[in-house]
Amino acid sequence: MQIITDPSQLQQTCLQWRAQGQRIALVPTMGFFHAGHESLMEHARTVADKVVVTLFVNPTQFGPGEDLEAYPRDHDRDTAVASARGVDVLFMPAPGTMYEADHATWVEVPELARGLCGLTRPTHFRGVCTVVLKLFMLTLPHMAFFGQKDWQQLAIIRRMTRDLNVPVHVEGRPIVREQDGLALSSRNVYLLPDERRQAPAIRAGLCLAADMAARGEKDTATLAEAIRTYWREHLPAGTEDYLAFVHPESLAPVTRMDGQVLCAVAVRLGKARLIDNILMGS
Ligand code: PAJ
Repeated sequence: MQIITDPSQLQQTCLQWRAQGQRIALVPTMGFFHAGHESLMEHARTVADKVVVTLFVNPTQFGPGEDLEAYPRDHDRDTAVASARGVDVLFMPAPGTMYEADHATWVEVPELARGLCGLTRPTHFRGVCTVVLKLFMLTLPHMAFFGQKDWQQLAIIRRMTRDLNVPVHVEGRPIVREQDGLALSSRNVYLLPDERRQAPAIRAGLCLAADMAARGEKDTATLAEAIRTYWREHLPAGTEDYLAFVHPESLAPVTRMDGQVLCAVAVRLGKARLIDNILMGS
């Protein structure tokens, strides 16, 4: 596995691969790999000739007071994991190489970025879109893989790619979970033991609502109340950041179950802010 730290060297390498007809897959990450990241690498390995994983804790997607400095990092372990997964290039940009001091260009999809995580993180998705488009331009991939855990991020990147005619096939991949249902996240390390014990209730509440919907409940306010009741008992240390029923693509709020509906949540648990979601209905 080659480690590249210089953005222009990454671009040169990928341009050469393209000229040779190699199919390139990109997996963008912020590192501190867990099985969710590894599942994306593994999938990329099976469908592409060349797999590029990027590891960059992108400062522009963190707001003031968020965990940019504290964000967990372990480059040695990440390097070993990526190498074991058969990654061809691990791109870890040297500090200061991704954004010029006078960087002034931003990409945003405000309509999809206002709700859900955007309510408390108003500049987050602008940072995500901008860095993902930069990574697309540096890697020139045929395909890029993202986790469905960050459903809003995926929906926004899909829309950006479509709206700007970016020739990249964007694919969402299933959420990888702990045995007890907790969605894997680099931020799970922030959880204290008692918080960790309660955390699976996030997912359990979503499953409970999905069961009610499968049995015919149509009113999303009733489903939301059932989740809150469950959380009050099983997740007393958590506070709801948002709990929303939305259309899976437009992310517009939905009040009656009709076709597929996404229930997306964010919960603050101790120092961690955890997100999860479930598709329900048919
Ligand atoms: P990061 O949080 O490191 O996640 C990298 C990729 O892994 C994302 O596509 C995310 O959805 C996926 N992922 C995280 N947890 C997962 C899980 N439990 N199961 C499956 N996939 C999972 O998301 C980012 O980084 C950044 O915003 C990024 C897109 C790299 C832009 O900076």
